[in-house]
Amino acid sequence: MNGSPANAASRYMEWAKLHSNARFNLAISGVIDYPLAELPVEIEDLEIGGTGPYGYEPLMERLAVKAGVPQKCVTYTLGASMANYIALTAVVRRGDEVLIEQPTYDPLLAILQHLGAKIRRFERQAEQGFRLDLEELERQLTPDVRLVVLCNLHNPSSTLTDDATMRQVGELAAKIGARVLVDEVYLETLFDQRWRSAFHLGPNFITTASLTKAYGLSGIRCGWILAQPDLVQRMWQIVDFTYGSPVHPAERLGVIALDNLDRIRNRARSLLETNRSLVNAFLADHSELDCEPSRFGTTVFPRLRTGDVATFAKLLRDEFETSVVPGEFFEQPQHLRIGFCGATETVRGGLERLSAALESFR
Ligand SMILES: Cc1ncc(COP(=O)(O)O)c(C=O)c1O
Repeated sequence: MNGSPANAASRYMEWAKLHSNARFNLAISGVIDYPLAELPVEIEDLEIGGTGPYGYEPLMERLAVKAGVPQKCVTYTLGASMANYIALTAVVRRGDEVLIEQPTYDPLLAILQHLGAKIRRFERQAEQGFRLDLEELERQLTPDVRLVVLCNLHNPSSTLTDDATMRQVGELAAKIGARVLVDEVYLETLFDQRWRSAFHLGPNFITTASLTKAYGLSGIRCGWILAQPDLVQRMWQIVDFTYGSPVHPAERLGVIALDNLDRIRNRARSLLETNRSLVNAFLADHSELDCEPSRFGTTVFPRLRTGDVATFAKLLRDEFETSVVPGEFFEQPQHLRIGFCGATETVRGGLERLSAALESFR
């Protein structure tokens, strides 16, 4: 993130698009693509046109049922990226104070800057496993804050914030008339426990998510926002600035994906289970990296105890064909984000190379 509203940009996104690729790509955070051939799709199931004015009805119905909310509380978006952009644009006015976690997902910061928000931060500390610290949040919550922004699971650490804590965040914000936006794109990876969107915790919550990260469906861009109906109306007005009719084949694929979510989820669950045990074994073997074992999500965010991470990441890429996300993109230059959501062979190969690189870097 840098510059004024007019030239706000996400350095991380640019890096991710242009420089993160490698033979062993551990820079990703979403489950590897689900093959279209494994979805029961016939060409007749797709159509160029036929959407509704504000979302394709069969898709809107399914999104509402999935979230357990009335349809009037749902805005359909092209991925969680657009969901974040639309949701923030709907509620943040130039000069508004917005309190956002640190570290965080860089585009959230860049959008806030683009909107001319006055950005305040609350810290999630590495020493506490990046857990949400309510006292720290309360300390930074001035009466002028209009919105609190955080991710659950947290990106980059994949740390979970439980409902009880999140409810308290909502209550603290409500006391000063502020809203809470929770980016829940990674919450969908909680395959083995029951969870509900923070939307259900209070009327001041807005949540964003998509089918991208947990299911390997980035390419169909099926995202959504959950919010109170008056805000949803405002969000649809902002969607109007971006398109007249959406990508209808993607809406159709969204319906098919939601109707087959069990099988898609099973593939992702077993991939992440296998890969999580690989990454945890790797972390246990490498005291050069300081990190709690992974319990949730698709990434870990260890601290490199000694040495410069940017130099290490360059060595890893140039000599070991492996990429990770340097912590500088999360304002934590001593950390690196390792994604373990690729094909198991890629993750295994990448971790072996990470080991070799650490050895050579010592
Ligand atoms: C926290 C967070 N939100 C949103 C996104 C973007 O999600 P989508 O692919 O659905 O646009 C990402 C992608 O990395 C992310 O990490």
